[in-house]
Amino acid sequence: MELIERPRRLRQSRAMRDLVAETDLRAKDLVQPLFVVPGEGVRRPISALPGQYHLSPDEAAEEAEAIYRAGVPAILLFGIPPEKDAVGSWAARLDAPVQDATRRIKRAVPELLVMADTCLCEYTDHGHCGVLRGDGTVDNDETLPLLASAAVSQAEAGADVIAPSDMMDGRVGALRAGLDGAGFTGTAILSYAVKYRSAFYGPFREAAGSAPQHGDRSGYQMDFRNGREAMREARIDIEEGADMLLVKPGMPYLDVLSAVAQSSAVPVGAYQVSGEYAMLEAAAERGWLDRDQVVQESLVALKRAGARFIITYYAHEWAKRALAR
Ligand code: PBG
Repeated sequence: MELIERPRRLRQSRAMRDLVAETDLRAKDLVQPLFVVPGEGVRRPISALPGQYHLSPDEAAEEAEAIYRAGVPAILLFGIPPEKDAVGSWAARLDAPVQDATRRIKRAVPELLVMADTCLCEYTDHGHCGVLRGDGTVDNDETLPLLASAAVSQAEAGADVIAPSDMMDGRVGALRAGLDGAGFTGTAILSYAVKYRSAFYGPFREAAGSAPQHGDRSGYQMDFRNGREAMREARIDIEEGADMLLVKPGMPYLDVLSAVAQSSAVPVGAYQVSGEYAMLEAAAERGWLDRDQVVQESLVALKRAGARFIITYYAHEWAKRALAR
């Protein structure tokens, strides 16, 4: 009897439950993604991601200030260029939306960490994450120097963290060498080391206009039937110099997140991706799920599984609500 009652006694009041809770979610754990577009004064709702916006650099700077005031320590910037071409030229331009926004944000709120997503898919007209060979497949090694120059221009604009999401082999080493060579030895690399080829990126591709025009990303993103492969990807990226790792998507991959977080020598974060957000939003809108409760539960689950930090479209909103409590 005594043994059976023991867990029950720890659940009997809110204060007792809070006292013994293993997992604690705080605004300082969260990273808010933002989509930056060309122009001035632009704040356009993204239909596939209700509550998220396409922001011009000036609007992104304003949003960043509000995010920082709410207690969120970092943002992750994605850019939509004014034009796309075969090699994603705009990715490395100092006057591109992400670089422009980064400069303005670091001027307005220097303490806010700016993470820049480094990939070519938003910048190429074919929507793949690297440059293509004649046969339409991605040329891994030709892509590396292009990613490195994109990263260097992001660092030059003031980005604190470079976050490569392209999944080319050897890119962490190439980015580290490129950054160091340009004098940016202090710029950190957050590698999307464990990134699965996932249909949960659907809404993002609408938001970034980055759906591949032919084929899919299975040549460079991971097969979701494989869990142990994640350990190898993580190890390689750490060896190449990654300061932090990311597992992505989040909720369907808690097993992978847990295994990587336990064995990794560097901090591991999770990305609650666009499809996870869209799924919760759609069900909540229909009244099928209690929005606030499922948001809380899904974020705590990622933390419980081992995420040191979480990239989530709910970051700003969650932090504002936490402030109000
Ligand atoms: C770019 C990139 C993607 C996401 C982050 N960086 C899309 C993709 O790989 O197709 C997805 C983010 C999300 O779904 O929220 N490579």
